[in-house]
Amino acid sequence: MPDTPQPRIIDPQEQAAEQRLDLTLRPGTLTEFIGQRLVKDNLEISITAARQRKEPIEHVLLYGPPGLGKTTLAHIIAREMDVNIRITSGPALERGGDLAAILTNLGEHDILFIDEIHRLNKTIEEILYPAMEEYALDLVIGKGPSARTLRLDLPKFTIIGATTRVSMLSGPLRDRFGNIFHLNFYHDDEIEQILKRSARLLDVAVEPSALSSLATRARRTPRIANRLLKRVRDFAQVRADGRVTSEIAQQALTLLGVDGFGLDDIDRRILSTIIEKFNGGPVGLNTIAAATGEEMATIEDVYEPFLLQCGLLQRTAQGRIATKRAYQHLNLTLPQQPLL
Ligand SMILES: Nc1ncnc2c1ncn2[C@@H]1O[C@H](COP(=O)(O)OP(=O)(O)OP(=O)(O)O)[C@@H](O)[C@H]1O
Ligand SMILES: [Mg+2]
Repeated sequence: MPDTPQPRIIDPQEQAAEQRLDLTLRPGTLTEFIGQRLVKDNLEISITAARQRKEPIEHVLLYGPPGLGKTTLAHIIAREMDVNIRITSGPALERGGDLAAILTNLGEHDILFIDEIHRLNKTIEEILYPAMEEYALDLVIGKGPSARTLRLDLPKFTIIGATTRVSMLSGPLRDRFGNIFHLNFYHDDEIEQILKRSARLLDVAVEPSALSSLATRARRTPRIANRLLKRVRDFAQVRADGRVTSEIAQQALTLLGVDGFGLDDIDRRILSTIIEKFNGGPVGLNTIAAATGEEMATIEDVYEPFLLQCGLLQRTAQGRIATKRAYQHLNLTLPQQPLL
């Protein structure tokens, strides 16, 4: 029987079993949404203004690493605007007809949420341009010289696009979004607040010191914070009386292989590969991928953003470099020549 790989505890991408938990923990309003002050303030203004004018909110593009709240915000916007939200994704929209069917079925001011919008194909993108700009759908009828286009009016709707890779979005598509927001990694105290809220909703008692040790290991990502909480809760229930004390949290986290920075085996392997096999870098992403046996895209989307964020890795034109901090974190001897 083939081995099914264990899902990684600190993988910021959503795991199938999490969807139900998500429904319980996902904040439903902007007020409940913790952190991302700038994005929230701007959204609040756009939403209020649109409501006052009785117009749909301008198209919104949300980008940033996985697990930071893009999908959550899309649902919140729909709720605050009091409209329906229809959900699809870049790869799910294969043919023009798929998109046309969705668009013509939207109600006035409804929201179409397109996840992974960087994966839309060219044909679909071209249908989207007039749809986003003029609320019109250009249909081509017939083939060859007798072909003609027919313009169909669409309801005034809003597209909310989400992506982890904004650089892969074409310029013309990006330009059609009136609101572009970058979601950043959360501060530790915001993650603590999120954990506190989740603990309350899951009805689990967590000591404040346990809360802060969970927070520092959650890679500044709400999805990971919630996941750690859930695993620690299980541990506390099985090995103790259900209360998450600081000691229980430590034991559970050690068992999960998550270190003080929130790094797991694969993060540490990426760093140690750069240091031990390539003298600390610079080394190209494809070489790191080959040497660690991980996919290039996974390294770039999932591991790297956080390693960069906490200053363990640096990205230069020549390749990736392990920083002094990475040597220290892994307890490796620093080389003679000066490091970054
Ligand atoms: N600001 C927040 N406050 C409280 N909980 C949050 C916040 N942001 C995200 N979460 C929690 O984290 C989970 C993951 O968020 P979400 O699914 O919105 O991430 P995402 O950015 O869409 O990720 P992906 O790129 O993988 O689609 C949510 O279910 C929610 O419970
Ligand atoms: Mg999402």
